[in-house]
Amino acid sequence: MPDAFVGIDVGTTGVKGVAIDADGCVLATASAEYALSRPRPGFAEQSPEDWWQATQRVLRGLPEGPVGLSGQMHGLVVLDGGGDVLRPAILWNDQRTVVETAEIAERVGFGRLVELTGNRALTGFTAPKILWLRRHEPDTYARIRHVLLPKDYVRYRLTGELAIDAADASGTLLFDVERRAWSEEVCEALDIPLEWLPPVYESTDIAGAGDQAAAALGVGIARPGPVSVVLGTSGVVFAALPAYTHDPLARLHVFCHAVPRTWHAMGVMLSAAGSAAWLRGVLGAQPAELDVEAERWAPGAEGLLFAPYLAGERTPHPDPDARGAFVGLSARHDRGALWRAMLEGVAFGLRDSLELLRELGCRVEVGRASGGGARSELWLRIVASALGVPLELTESEEGSAYGAALLSGIRSGVFADADDAVARCVRVRRRIDPEWDYDALYRRFRLLYPTLKELQ
Ligand code: XUL
Repeated sequence: MPDAFVGIDVGTTGVKGVAIDADGCVLATASAEYALSRPRPGFAEQSPEDWWQATQRVLRGLPEGPVGLSGQMHGLVVLDGGGDVLRPAILWNDQRTVVETAEIAERVGFGRLVELTGNRALTGFTAPKILWLRRHEPDTYARIRHVLLPKDYVRYRLTGELAIDAADASGTLLFDVERRAWSEEVCEALDIPLEWLPPVYESTDIAGAGDQAAAALGVGIARPGPVSVVLGTSGVVFAALPAYTHDPLARLHVFCHAVPRTWHAMGVMLSAAGSAAWLRGVLGAQPAELDVEAERWAPGAEGLLFAPYLAGERTPHPDPDARGAFVGLSARHDRGALWRAMLEGVAFGLRDSLELLRELGCRVEVGRASGGGARSELWLRIVASALGVPLELTESEEGSAYGAALLSGIRSGVFADADDAVARCVRVRRRIDPEWDYDALYRRFRLLYPTLKELQ
């Protein structure tokens, strides 16, 4: 039996790694950052080689042990027949594929697509990126032999194996989420060769999952119960489902969970901690300092609202052209007010997803928070209040990487299954109760998107 189980999360801002023991105690953590390139407006790319270099650095900083992988979802990595990367990866928050998403809906039919995949064509998903390459980079397209997602490319470099898990495959739009297998019908309709796609495994068999499924497992969500609330670059509210179901309008994503025979629904906003990273850069200050200044303002910061659509939006507004805004500025507002409005605007964006989960029939009574933004006490208090549910924090703060380490332990046989891993490793250490009544402010926030849309 190994002494350590390693989890690696190939994220948007960097690779995070954690090593845990068989009781789930953290033995060590390590991280390494890399850049994101925006070569044109709406584009978001990264070099798969950067992920690999960062992963190697992180692994060198951790005890040795079997590795589980999690990663940013949906990103397109294309390889030639020799396994070489053909171009930079196109990421989950890239918005270039507006035309291709319409093409997919037309080729497959909106209703049939939702029936087959559980989801609608969104710019962030993988399939439209493949169609974009076919149209805009035919020479590259002609050389494609393998399509991988980000963390699966790292697995390929680590082990030489081409593989994917059902959780991450769910975000490609080429996957029959209900049957947990590639959709031949969708691939055929889009003229994408099935041979390009890697074999699919359950997360527990391959020790890998998309970052949201891994984050949920990492905070103990293997079954319906608490929802996972992630304040990463993206912001997510995620509920495990009692059985497969889908919203005929596909306003939420319905994907396979990292637990066999289990599915989940989630809403994803594109700029959560991404909004915080942008604003702290503009204000030239550290988040902790800005939190102190923001706390001096009452909820609502004297009428200031923030629309968090800095990179377009996904849930509940599937709109790549959506843009952010501060509305209601007065001469009294200082940077603490801007910061508070930003924290609140992101929290309201999460509330939008929570409302959709409730419409789908999910009972939401408590959330479990993770992601970089969960290090801010003030943000947690605001999110708990805006969602109107308590937020729990678990002992480990490693989110997706921790979930990946649990998957590694399950695959190694130290845990019988996901429930056993959660029971033995995930412990709640604190709870943050709702403190402020944000309902009236949330109703005002709801008016922002349609109003701003008219101005565009
Ligand atoms: C999920 C999604 C994002 C990325 C971020 O659908 O696009 O949460 O996985 O890493």
